[in-house]
Amino acid sequence: MKIRELELERYLAKYEFLAPYIFCTSDSESFEINQLLEMDVEYSEKLKKLKLSYVDPQGSEYLREEISSLYSNVSSEEIVILSGAAEGIFVIMNALLEKGDHVIVQWPCYQPLYEIPAAIGCQVTKWEMEENSKWELDLDFFRDNIKNNTKMVIINNPHNPTGYLFSTEFVTQLVNIAKEKNIWIFSDEVYRFSEYDEKNRTSAISDIYDKGISLGAMSKVFGLGGLRIGWASIKDKEVMRKVISFKDYTTICCSSTSEMISALAIRNRNQIIKRNMHIIKANLDLLDDFFKKYNHLLEWVRPKATAIGFPKIKFDMDIKDFSNDLLEKKGVLILPGYVFGDYNKNFRIGFGKLNTKEVLKKFEEYISENLIK
Ligand SMILES: Cc1ncc(COP(=O)(O)O)c(C=O)c1O
Repeated sequence: MKIRELELERYLAKYEFLAPYIFCTSDSESFEINQLLEMDVEYSEKLKKLKLSYVDPQGSEYLREEISSLYSNVSSEEIVILSGAAEGIFVIMNALLEKGDHVIVQWPCYQPLYEIPAAIGCQVTKWEMEENSKWELDLDFFRDNIKNNTKMVIINNPHNPTGYLFSTEFVTQLVNIAKEKNIWIFSDEVYRFSEYDEKNRTSAISDIYDKGISLGAMSKVFGLGGLRIGWASIKDKEVMRKVISFKDYTTICCSSTSEMISALAIRNRNQIIKRNMHIIKANLDLLDDFFKKYNHLLEWVRPKATAIGFPKIKFDMDIKDFSNDLLEKKGVLILPGYVFGDYNKNFRIGFGKLNTKEVLKKFEEYISENLIK
C-alpha cells in the first residue's frame, strides 16, 4: 500500500518538542503515573504484580469490561483494544473496505480518515462542513451522493479540527439513512466526553446501530496519549474477527502495562475528566475574551466540545506565512489549516493545557507588535 505522508503529524514532529508555547495540540493536560496510582489502590497493587507478557490480541478482558461501561449497549466481547485510535483507523478500514468501494467522508478531517480509504483504492467523496453555517453538515448531500457501491460513511464526532458536535437529531437521521441503504457508519469518537454541556452528548454510534463502529481513545480528554491505547466497538462478529486478524500484521497485541493503567483511568474517569474539563472551560473563557477583543483580525466559530478550534485570519496573509512568523517571533505553535486540506486562512488551536493563559499573552504580544498599526 502506498500512502501519502500524514501532514499534521509531520508538522507537529518538526516543532512540537522545540517550540516553547504549544497552542495547537488536541489532547488534555496529562497526569503523572503517581497521580493515577493514588486514585485506585486495587489497580496500583495489581500493577506491581503484572507480568509483562503478551496479552489477548483482542485486549484483556478486564479492560474491555471497563470500556463497555462507557456504552449503554455494547458488551466486552464487542470491544477490541488497539495501540492508539490511529491503529484502529488503519486496521478497521483495511478489514472492511476493498478497492472500488465508495465511501463518504466528513470534511475537513483527521487525514487518516480520508487517506487510508483512498490508499486502499476506494472512491472517496468529501462531505464538506459549511463554515458559514458554523460547520454544519447537510444531510441532503449525504442522501444525494449515495451510490450502489457506497459501503461506508466516515464521521468524526466531536470533530477535529473544528470542535463541532452533531445534534441528536442529526445522528438519528444519519443512522436512519445508513440503515435504509445498508451502509456502515465509522464514527471516530475519540473526543467523546469533552462536550461542554453533557446534555448535548450524542449516543455512541455502536449503541444505536448494528453496522455502526465507534472508535475511542485514552489520548484526548483523558490526556493519556503516551499509553497508546485506543479501542473500537464492533457488533458484527465477522468484522471483529477480521480486525483482530489484521492486527497480527501491525502490533499483535497492546502493551500489558498500558492496558492496566488505561483500565485504572477508565474506572476513575469522573475524576480525570472533571479536572480536564475544568481546565478546558477556564481556557475557553479566556478565548472568548481574546477573540472578542481581536474580532477585526480573527474569526472564531466557538466549538461545542473538545480542546480544539479552527479560527481564521481576516487579514491578507497566507496561513503558512502567519504560522511561521508567529512561531519565529514569539515561539507560539499553531497548526496551519493546509494540513487539513485546502484551508489557507484557518488554523487549529489547542487549549487543553494549563499554560494557555501564558500562550495567549505571547499571541497578544505578536498581534500588538505586528498586526496593529
Ligand atoms: C479524530 C482523530 N482520530 C484519531 C486520532 C488518533 O488518536 P490516538 O493518538 O489515540 O491514536 C486523532 C489524533 O489526533 C484524531 O484527532
